[in-house]
Amino acid sequence: MRVGFPIILVNFKTYRESMGHKGLELAKAAERASGETGVCIAVAPQTPDLFRIASGVGIPVFSQHVDPEEPGAHTGSVTPESLKEAGVSGTILNHSERRLRIDLIEEAVRRCTSSGLLTCVCANTPLAGRAVASFCPEMVAVEPPELIGSGVSVSKARPEVVGGTVRLIKEVSSGVHVLCGAGITSGEDVSAAIKLGAEGVLVASGVVKAKDPLKALMDLAEHSIPS
Ligand code: G3P
Repeated sequence: MRVGFPIILVNFKTYRESMGHKGLELAKAAERASGETGVCIAVAPQTPDLFRIASGVGIPVFSQHVDPEEPGAHTGSVTPESLKEAGVSGTILNHSERRLRIDLIEEAVRRCTSSGLLTCVCANTPLAGRAVASFCPEMVAVEPPELIGSGVSVSKARPEVVGGTVRLIKEVSSGVHVLCGAGITSGEDVSAAIKLGAEGVLVASGVVKAKDPLKALMDLAEHSIPS
């Protein structure tokens, strides 16, 4: 499944509202919003829901994490190969809620790339973003941890973080797409991010916990198209 930019990447995290059957319904709402706006919307459900959702919708599905282990004797790990087999398009790596050592991020990106999986590596600061961009992931998402789940958007509260990450990464790795996340809830938050040079957003509670997730997704997607 191809990914396009701008992108709205919806991290389902482990919210009750986004697991099991509800997760599939949420993914279908994302598929509908993507179809109606023409904007790429990808979803990142919990691991047990990946196969069902990837089989049930025609939008890119991402994992929230992957382990860099090779196929073989490694109990409890999830490999890039198994995600690929499940129909998954890519994975988030190094989320603030699932941090990885820098050498493991590099290894995971390398393993994913050779397995045909896209990677979206999270970073908590612009400098950390530049460091992980040197591993050549498809995307880097900058997220100040203190704004995650706050409803206060990074693009409005910390515009220098978004603009600074775009500048630092594009100087050295022009092919890496820069996203931002944390506290994104409205279309205006997305427009502000796009104006700062971001090529998409990583969002969770603003969609998953919304009273009307389809409406929330439509608002985010409509405002992601640069004017
Ligand atoms: O992965 C996205 C995330 O960390 C942002 O969370 O709830 O602030 O949109 P939220």
